[in-house]
Amino acid sequence: MRRREFMGAGLLAASLAGLSKASYPLTLRPLTDYPDEPGTLASRAAARGLLFGTAVKSATLQTDPRYAALVAQQAGVLVAEYEMKWDVIAAQPDRYDFAPGDAILAFARKNGQRMRGHTLCWYAVNPAWVEQKMRDPSIDRATKAKLLTGYIDTVARRYSGKMIHWDVVNEPIDPSEGRPDGMRVKNIWSEALGETYIDMAFHAAREADPHAVLYLNEFGIESDIPWNEAKRTALLKLLDRLKGRGVPIQGLGIQSHLQPYKARFDERIFRDFLEKVTGYGLKLSVTELDLSDRALTKDSNEPEPARRDNQVAAVAKAFLDVALSFKQTEAVLCWGLSDKYSWLSSRWAKDRWPEGSFARGLPYTSDLREKKLYRAIGAAFDAAPDRSMIV
Ligand code: XIL
Repeated sequence: MRRREFMGAGLLAASLAGLSKASYPLTLRPLTDYPDEPGTLASRAAARGLLFGTAVKSATLQTDPRYAALVAQQAGVLVAEYEMKWDVIAAQPDRYDFAPGDAILAFARKNGQRMRGHTLCWYAVNPAWVEQKMRDPSIDRATKAKLLTGYIDTVARRYSGKMIHWDVVNEPIDPSEGRPDGMRVKNIWSEALGETYIDMAFHAAREADPHAVLYLNEFGIESDIPWNEAKRTALLKLLDRLKGRGVPIQGLGIQSHLQPYKARFDERIFRDFLEKVTGYGLKLSVTELDLSDRALTKDSNEPEPARRDNQVAAVAKAFLDVALSFKQTEAVLCWGLSDKYSWLSSRWAKDRWPEGSFARGLPYTSDLREKKLYRAIGAAFDAAPDRSMIV
């Protein structure tokens, strides 16, 4: 293993000084100095039979050539951050707009990159006209089912052969809404069609695209906190039902929006969960990796960026070490490469720093310099067993 472990107890203690235990319930990990190895994240992943990639926005690829060059260089697989969601593809009834998604696909092809499709059926980011129809009591169930499967048929057929994966169903679980089975309640699809919407979506995707590996994608299943445990339990039961009904699901996407200062990561719990998931014969991908570096505390001793970068990198490495130890793991995608364009920086006030600085949850700084997280991801690929060697 090519890595220099531990920075030494003194330095570790110094770098943790000022952190109050009460503010940081996680177990902080030993700081590691990941080596600066040659190659790109894509090439280091490929050397182990893995794919590394990122979510991209078509607009950013056009407006920021330096960033576009970085994406071309570092990623072996791309996913559209929003361009292949229903709200973009079918903002108006009976009109499809594939242009934004196609722009990303063209970029990927030009640069020899693969693409994941994201996402065919989600409770969020649907156009108002779809929500209205799905909630209209005067429209019958068969018509509502056809709205879902017709859309999936059109989109998955159009991109057939061009996507390595499809996130067919996104985020179907939310035990906090109170259903005993933990399934999401506020969801236009299940409200109209019951849980069978998932079966319908996967069957329609399989029929339209015989090539892509069909994924169910979920967040909040990674960490050692009660609401993640509840999601894992509900998800495993769902997989059991889907497999029992012969639904053609082939992979589980682990979104991996990690929150190291709020949600402890425990290798054993995560490994145990992945063992159960792969027991259903499923592939795995880390689909949306980023790490919020907000501690959500008024503590005046907030760790400064260098310390946060160390801690975030260490959690990512521990997390990836477990994920990559499974031969079923195909790909690791970050939800963006640079903090400048991260949804953590732009969308969620809780993840942005109060004085306005960006969240630091991605491998590159906002001015496109490699961070410790970049090295940690690279080190995880270097240390990963070659897919073909795992029995
Ligand atoms: C987010 C995008 O980053 C935003 O740009 C968009 O407005 C909303 O969606 N889980 C998912 C992704 O599966 O589609 C979400 O992406 C992030 C959470």
